[in-house]
Amino acid sequence: MSNANEKRQAGEAAIRYVEDGAIVGVGTGSTVAYFIDALADLKDRIQGAVSSSEQSTAHLKRLGIPVLDLNATGSLTLYVDGADECDPHKRLIKGGGAALTREKIVAEASDKFVCIIDSSKKVDVLGKFPLPIEVIPMARSLIGREIVKRGGNPVWRDGVVTDNGNWIIDVHGWQIVDPVSLENDLNQIPGIVSVGLFARRAADVVLVGDKLL
Ligand code: A5P
Repeated sequence: MSNANEKRQAGEAAIRYVEDGAIVGVGTGSTVAYFIDALADLKDRIQGAVSSSEQSTAHLKRLGIPVLDLNATGSLTLYVDGADECDPHKRLIKGGGAALTREKIVAEASDKFVCIIDSSKKVDVLGKFPLPIEVIPMARSLIGREIVKRGGNPVWRDGVVTDNGNWIIDVHGWQIVDPVSLENDLNQIPGIVSVGLFARRAADVVLVGDKLL
């Protein structure tokens, strides 16, 4: 069961990583929403934010935080985002909110990734949460067959279109003991835009509520 109080604590605790003058990478989801609310109190001390979704962009703008283009900012010092699962090595499953591709881009562009979660997201082995994969629509069936070959059960998230105009497949039934290898393997399949495994680029810091993992 997710815990709103711990999500709020984590979102507020992440503020301590925000430096004066920074451009902050901002993730997506209900935990990040608490971070954005807290960031608004500092908006005069930062240059702005790079957003990972239309949802977060709308929230940032509503609170008067400038939203900047990653192509103009160059690399970022800090990225703050939630996760759907987190293992003891700070490797993550993300994409429950379908924002994984832009999240992955902003995470890759950032020196430090601070992941904010409640304790329900902690697991020993990734995979109980179905693994989201963003796919080019015409490749959906092809990718589904490739997943079945690898022992997964692909389920199309029918009706969901990502911010990039693509579709999501959620893979059930995988116990992901080697997430780096699986991420590398899936990234080779044509038509996969992004895999919701953040293992090659894991989090650097994980806050579970206001406590470090
Ligand atoms: C969005 O696509 C996801 O990666 C979110 O980071 C993840 O689903 C966590 O969301 P909550 O903070 O709402 O649990």
